[in-house]
Amino acid sequence: MEWGMKNRLSRLIQKDGKALFLPIDHGYFQGPTHGLEHPEETIKPIYQYADAIMLTRGVLRNCIDPAIEKPIIMRVSGAVSVVGEDLAAESIVTSIQEILRLNASAVSMSVFVGTKYENKSLSNLAKLVDECEEFGIPVMAVSAVGKELEKREARYLALAARISAEIGARVVKTYYCKEHFEKVVDGCPVPVVIAGGPKTETQREVFDFVYDGLQKGAIGVNLGRNIWQTQYPVASIKAIRAIIHEGYTPQEAEDLYNQVIAGKT
Ligand code: R5P
Repeated sequence: MEWGMKNRLSRLIQKDGKALFLPIDHGYFQGPTHGLEHPEETIKPIYQYADAIMLTRGVLRNCIDPAIEKPIIMRVSGAVSVVGEDLAAESIVTSIQEILRLNASAVSMSVFVGTKYENKSLSNLAKLVDECEEFGIPVMAVSAVGKELEKREARYLALAARISAEIGARVVKTYYCKEHFEKVVDGCPVPVVIAGGPKTETQREVFDFVYDGLQKGAIGVNLGRNIWQTQYPVASIKAIRAIIHEGYTPQEAEDLYNQVIAGKT
């Protein structure tokens, strides 16, 4: 592996081999979604606890201080919307020149395996990998299920993760599933991070699945709504960070969460 690629990956994946990515890219197809109306305000109290921030070039340019010390994972696929015909019909919307100009440490794009646009999406991934590898920029494939949340089961997720890695993704983001999540990780030769999905009813559910996902081989998370859409984003991200980087159990994380809310830490 070239020095530049190694250096960028080491900024994202910490010395302990773990990672907490904070995505705020949801506006690319959801518009000013709840909690992200003003991305700069959303991340102000929480970004310090993340290892990297994932966003689009538009939000980066307009809402983020260029002096920010966190690495940027730039979402480069899109051109679809929640009111459009098909979320899977994405294109690559950012050039390699722009990726370099904005000093991204990595890029990400969605991969829609098993959809009408499977070939387009996987071909986009291949092209992006070719362009980015040339400059030592890692590509994170985001296994997407669109509105079909029931696809979040091991067989499908393992298929999508493996195909993304075969095409050249350096990191794969997948959803967590309760049954056989270890098969998703085992079948994927590159590091796997877990997305949070729509906000859960309780914060404990998040601590449980993040912990279990890590036990089963994930290196961390790319988790947004279950942090910044919650009532207590700082407590939430601190507790998740403690699971990832300090080996906290879900119960210890919940205790920390409650202490932060109570102002005791
Ligand atoms: C979807 O909008 C993006 O790919 C997100 O970055 C990804 O789904 C992770 O965010 P969340 O934890 O909110 O699902």
